[in-house]
Amino acid sequence: MIGGDGIGPEVIAEALKVVRAAGVELDTTFFDLGGARYLRDGEVLSDETLETLRGFDAILLGAVGTPGVPPGVIERGLLLKLRFSLDLYINQRPFAGTAPGHSKPHDFIVIRENTEGPYVGEGGVLRKGTAHEVATQGSVNSRHGVERCIRYAFELASKRERKHVTLVHKTNVLTFAGDLWQRTFDAVAAEYPKIATAYNHVDAACIYFVQDPHRYDVVVTDNLFGDILTDLGGAVSGGIGLASSANLNPARTGPSLFEPVHGSAPDIAGKGVANPVAAILSAALMLDHLGESKAADAIRAACAKPTSGSTIAVGDEICRRLHG
Ligand code: IPM
Ligand code: MN
Repeated sequence: MIGGDGIGPEVIAEALKVVRAAGVELDTTFFDLGGARYLRDGEVLSDETLETLRGFDAILLGAVGTPGVPPGVIERGLLLKLRFSLDLYINQRPFAGTAPGHSKPHDFIVIRENTEGPYVGEGGVLRKGTAHEVATQGSVNSRHGVERCIRYAFELASKRERKHVTLVHKTNVLTFAGDLWQRTFDAVAAEYPKIATAYNHVDAACIYFVQDPHRYDVVVTDNLFGDILTDLGGAVSGGIGLASSANLNPARTGPSLFEPVHGSAPDIAGKGVANPVAAILSAALMLDHLGESKAADAIRAACAKPTSGSTIAVGDEICRRLHG
């Protein structure tokens, strides 16, 4: 358990409470990591801590980030270091809800590639601070990385009712990476004749997420497009307070990591008003991964009806539904 910063510890406490109410006994260890820890003694994520984390079955993380820490220190040094080092190459984000202005619910999952793209940190800066300053930021797309992500999306779709996968990219402008993604997608699709496919440019996908989210079943896309699209997915599916995510190592060579999509929200931290449902639904994804799908389904069912009140009151109400 990494509660982290801001509202992280508050929502993680509720998630753990709900998991226990669902009848799953977890053996937990808390790690004090995040922006506050960094400000206190300079540790972001030492190699020693990383090696310790490798020994666990799963990691449940609240949120990290504190005002006063320069951008990137915690994001790259903790979150991305965990994603890269533990080879969490799938970021799975489910979106079910009824978008504003719609009466019909949607139910789709975004599969975001989680270890490549512009997130790798390739690039640099020249002549910093001068009028001739240059900054480059590369996007890495390997056949291996793209293919394992697309394959995961097709496997997932093959277990779902609609059996439909949409590739989202920007093949008309990012012609090198886009071509690799499209060719890989077509090659994998040929192995899954029962699965229907579509392609959307990412800008068009932004319109469809709002105006016609029902068209989607499984969406597969690159790291940065997936980052942006999944905030939009949250916004049209009841808000970011409900958006859960799984950072998966499907090969299971180490633990996977589960976290709400929302951040540490320092402005509302400590007030007891953060919505714990995103963290609770992330814990349900963790239970799926740990082979406790019955408990996970029960938690999802308990979260399906509206709840209101403080962070703790919402957690309590969901526990009551699980017992009752
Ligand atoms: C997310 C977050 C992270 C990302 C940040 C905090 C590094 O926005 O999980 O979506 O960009 O992946
Ligand atoms: Mn994001």
